[in-house]
Amino acid sequence: MSAVDYSIAGWVRRVPSLQWARDDAARAATPDALPEVLLASRPLAEVHRLDLALFEVFEEAALRVSGALVRRAPTPEALAFSAQQTLDEARHHEQFRARHLLARAAAGLPAHGGTAAILIPPLQRFLDHCYEVADAGSFVEALALMNLVLEGMAFPLYAYEQRYWAPVDPALAALVKGAFADETRHCAFGARTVRELLASDPERRARVTKLAREARSAMAEVFRYYVARFVGLFDAVARRHRELFAGAELAPGRLIADTPYEEQVRMIHHSIDTEHARLLAKAGLT
Ligand SMILES: [Fe+2]
Ligand SMILES: [Fe+2]
Repeated sequence: MSAVDYSIAGWVRRVPSLQWARDDAARAATPDALPEVLLASRPLAEVHRLDLALFEVFEEAALRVSGALVRRAPTPEALAFSAQQTLDEARHHEQFRARHLLARAAAGLPAHGGTAAILIPPLQRFLDHCYEVADAGSFVEALALMNLVLEGMAFPLYAYEQRYWAPVDPALAALVKGAFADETRHCAFGARTVRELLASDPERRARVTKLAREARSAMAEVFRYYVARFVGLFDAVARRHRELFAGAELAPGRLIADTPYEEQVRMIHHSIDTEHARLLAKAGLT
């Protein structure tokens, strides 16, 4: 297996100076202000705010868990990786939260209280479990829950989110694109780190495999809920604003307008299942 560059020096060379500079340049080309259509269409603005609230919840959880992992990292490589991830998540949280607050202000809503409606009890239970495991100092277990289960199941959705929002809010689509690149890295590096840390301990690997399997079925319930809800909401607003979504794609070459609701839901779950199975195999958790 080739060596993975977990160093902060390597990360600073590649991520902030190249990837983020590119992302920031792309974002500078899209106006930050909310597009007119979001100010004019109440149903579209509601879906937009709800989705931003969900991004804010996920990114805050990722930030809190990554931060806790820094304290308990067992190797210098794991320490550097947790620190990098913490900075990435802080950036995502700040960016999504800023857009969410902008959308709330445009609707005359107070800054606080935007996330409660979207944080369903099974997700809250999963997040509490992540915090408990991370705070108890079980580094590899908490890393598996965060990077391989929560992010591992969520990151395939970022590609769909990016395509859904592209015609409505290009600035949000650009944010999602940037975060997607980081999340892909967190999942891949997380899988390598878990595999390396468990390489010489088959008993612990079996325990982490069981933990990841149980967490996956708990999160499958959460994702079934969010996918059904958001695809339903997007479908309804896309029907209401046919011209706006006329060219919007669900997958490359596949128009949302030509894809029935059930087919959209099926395609998204298929992406989650295949990408996630691939990630667990990469981590040696099979
Ligand atoms: Fe993130
Ligand atoms: Fe992440």
